[in-house]
Amino acid sequence: MSENKIIDGKEFAERLRARIGVLAGEFEAKAGRKAGLAVVLVGEDPASQVYVSSKGKQTVAAGMNSFEHKLAADASEEELLAVVASLNADPAVDGILVQLPLPRHMDEQKVIATIDPDKDVDGFHVTNAGRLAVGQAGYVPCTPLGCLMLLEDRLGDLKGLNAVVIGRSNIVGKPMAQLLLSANCTVTIAHRHTKDLADLVRRSDIVVAAVGVPEMVKGDWIKPGATVIDVGINRLPPAEGKTKGRIVGDVDYQGAVQVAGAITPVPGGVGPMTIAVLLRNALVAAYAHEG
Ligand code: GUN
Repeated sequence: MSENKIIDGKEFAERLRARIGVLAGEFEAKAGRKAGLAVVLVGEDPASQVYVSSKGKQTVAAGMNSFEHKLAADASEEELLAVVASLNADPAVDGILVQLPLPRHMDEQKVIATIDPDKDVDGFHVTNAGRLAVGQAGYVPCTPLGCLMLLEDRLGDLKGLNAVVIGRSNIVGKPMAQLLLSANCTVTIAHRHTKDLADLVRRSDIVVAAVGVPEMVKGDWIKPGATVIDVGINRLPPAEGKTKGRIVGDVDYQGAVQVAGAITPVPGGVGPMTIAVLLRNALVAAYAHEG
């Protein structure tokens, strides 16, 4: 099995962050200030805490200011909306990210709608979703944009390729499908009601799996030579005598790697791309704000 079948997202993300670091330095020299990214975390979800701390560190390492706002799990929606409003008004803040999921007593769509679309570096605001749908410049969600970068790096022009996106979330599946469509792929979006997913996958040159079901896509579904992008990060139950289970993707990696032309591993594939693209979006926002 050739080594270069494996799409090394970790290495790609490191190179992207290094480039952003250089550009962030140029921005600071020109604008007389650093680009700024604000992250808002509500509650103590352990996975979210890890993400947010990692975002903060990588933002600073790229030469940008990181502003962190932490609210208690029982904070009111009004308190959160007030934080977002103050960040919207703060000229030192170029990008705003409200870490999801929010506690159940908060309305995520309402909170996202309060973020200034021109600071919405997550690309979750309906204005940015609309811009993506009609092909206008805007902010594109970080994970699918990272997937597109990996695909174009590996395949070059995607024109005419058959792509299947498994999963229809607003954060990954839907924007991924839009991006592939813009890149002139023939795109199918599959979901829990899709009939004969195996057959659909067998006809696809590109498979993007983003469903959150461990190893759901089987190796023998993959068309020989296809490119497989696995967005899933799932922890299996612990094996006998272990305290923590293994992390696996939505694709049966051991099976798929035998037939695929290229595949992202989990971990070390798509995962590291998300924060790298977030930093890229924050820098784009900073340049836009300086006109
Ligand atoms: N939670 C998990 N991933 C993300 C992300 O990319 N953005 C936000 N805001 N929350 C998340």
